[in-house]
This record gives sequence, structure tokens and C-alpha cells, in this order.
Amino acid sequence: MSIALVPGSFDPFHNGHLEVVERAARLFDSVVVAALRNPQKSSTLFELDERRAMMAESMEHITNVTIVSVSTLLVDVARDVNASAIVKGLRAVSDFESELQMAQMNRSLSGVETLFIPTSSKYSFIASRLLREVARFGGDVTTFVPKVVAERLEEKFAGE
Ligand code: PNS
Repeated sequence: MSIALVPGSFDPFHNGHLEVVERAARLFDSVVVAALRNPQKSSTLFELDERRAMMAESMEHITNVTIVSVSTLLVDVARDVNASAIVKGLRAVSDFESELQMAQMNRSLSGVETLFIPTSSKYSFIASRLLREVARFGGDVTTFVPKVVAERLEEKFAGE
């Protein structure tokens, strides 16, 4: 059975992430989406459990997806779920350098391969960092994120 592991910070999960998972779910027998800590990002808006809950609701329609939220090395998750490959979305050339570095490190650590899916151009400008910023200052992010994420963002910044 082929298993794709789609990792990320997902802080928060957005429509670009969703599209990558939907496409991976058509290519692999099953997909494990892992919300992880990115030690390069010191503070997060949502706790891992909050992210996991939003992701679960956002992906209810995808039957071959499971979600984990853990605070470990990605290669350990890949081993634990018996992943055939790590799958990541690439938005632009600017993503490539760090993604290549992580792919090479993960392969050196455990032999796991990373496959890249180019995101649709309609999603290529969407980034969690920008969504947090737009939502914090009261901007409308509803076209960029699943409904539950828009609701949680609104709650998070209500009264600020
Ligand atoms: O969405 P992001 O922030 O680009 O995802 C990065 C993430 C979470 C996949 C990466 O930071 C990660 O793999 N974190 C888990 C810790 C780990 O394995 N670090 C070594 C990466 S080579």
C-alpha cells in the first residue's frame, strides 16, 4: 500500500494545503497529514491540537486521509506511519531552496524520498504567515481558507 506523508506547520491550514492533500490522495492509497513543530518558527498562533481539529474538519470529504499532530522529527513520523514518500507543495522558486535542503536532510537521515507537487497558480500567493497578518488586522480571508479556519481566525482575533 502506498502512503504519502504530507507534513507542515499548518498554522493555519489553508486552501493551498488542502489542494496538495487532495492531489496526493488521488496519487497514493492513503495520505497521512502531519502537523509538526517548525523550530525555525518560534511562536505559533494555534496549538498543535487546535490545528489538528481544524484540519480534520477541513478534510472530512477526503476518505483516505488521516491526521497526526506531533512534536518530533519528520523522519520518525515517516517511519512510524510507514510512509512511501514525503509529499510537499511548491508554490514558487523561493520555496525551493529550503524545501530541497529539508528533502536532502530527511533522505540522509532515513532514506525517505520527498516528492514535490506544484501548487495551482490560483493558490501560489497564499501563505499561512500572510493569512495570520491579514486576519489579525481584520481583513477577509474567507476565500483562502476552509470555513472552520476562517471561523477560528475570527474568534482568535476578536476584540483585538
Ligand atoms: O509548513 P512548514 O513550516 O514549511 O513545515 C516545515 C516542517 C514542519 C515540515 C519542518 O519544520 C519539520 O519537518 N519539522 C519537524 C522537525 C524536523 O524533522 N526537522 C528537520 C527537518 S529537515
